[in-house]
Amino acid sequence: MSLTCEEACLSQSASEVPANRSVLVVGASRGLGEAIAATYVAHGSRVVGTVRGDARTPLHDLAASAGGMVEIEHVDVTAPEEIDALRARLSGRRFDLLFVVAGISSALPDATAASIPDGAFAQMMFTNALGPVRVVEALQDLVEPAGTIAIMSSGQGSITNNTRGGFEVYRATKSALNQLMRSYAARHAREDRALLLMAPGWVRTELGGADAPLGIDDSIPPLVATVDAQRGVRGLQYLDRDGKVLPW
Ligand SMILES: NC(=O)c1ccc[n+]([C@@H]2O[C@H](COP(=O)([O-])OP(=O)(O)OC[C@H]3O[C@@H](n4cnc5c(N)ncnc54)[C@H](OP(=O)(O)O)[C@@H]3O)[C@@H](O)[C@H]2O)c1
Repeated sequence: MSLTCEEACLSQSASEVPANRSVLVVGASRGLGEAIAATYVAHGSRVVGTVRGDARTPLHDLAASAGGMVEIEHVDVTAPEEIDALRARLSGRRFDLLFVVAGISSALPDATAASIPDGAFAQMMFTNALGPVRVVEALQDLVEPAGTIAIMSSGQGSITNNTRGGFEVYRATKSALNQLMRSYAARHAREDRALLLMAPGWVRTELGGADAPLGIDDSIPPLVATVDAQRGVRGLQYLDRDGKVLPW
């Protein structure tokens, strides 16, 4: 496959996301994950979306209005036994796309390596770096051989672009995520799947906060179109929502 990202992305606009995909979104209860699920459903795809716990979430509202196109599953990405149980429940299923969106920000956004409590640091690393890659490792064989595995990273994971600091621990978790996926990609270099680390931009969600310049509708439709445009482009890429390559 010789298409570059730019060629593939330019050939497909947001309105051309193909229908009839089978999609698994991990971390779909609300925010960007729920919006990704809603976007695929709107284009005629079937979605399995995961939540934590038993509380009703926006994903439940989507499922109630989606005419059977949304199935709700459960997993906490920091709980290996829950990942294994999800894998067992989904055994025999096949997905065109696995998209791991789950992530958290710091309750102490200004904390540095010197000041952040050990527990807060560990929780962020488990949730943003280790958990998502463990999900990929456990669920990879549910993804079609020429399908796509995407993880929500962040532009803040770019080491090259970190010239101003800020959000230091969050940045570190996304850089660690990117690095773990580089190693995963190296181990799976002979496989045809597209592997994507996506940066959605700064978006108004619970995590992004009210001051973010982008609404969900500014970020997710182009991001989904970019993910779909990469289908069949084997290997790992770190891309923004418009398909621009980000520096590691
Ligand atoms: N918003 C932005 O500006 C922005 C920018 C760059 C990257 N991102 C990334 O985009 C992703 C989604 O962020 P968002 O803005 O949509 O945040 P959000 O509205 O706070 O949603 C976070 C999602 O992650 C789930 N989650 C958190 N911890 C989890 C765990 N241990 N196991 C399973 N699911 C878990 C949450 O589930 P619960 O409902 O159960 O808590 C929720 O569905 C994150 O990875 C974030 O780092 C966001």
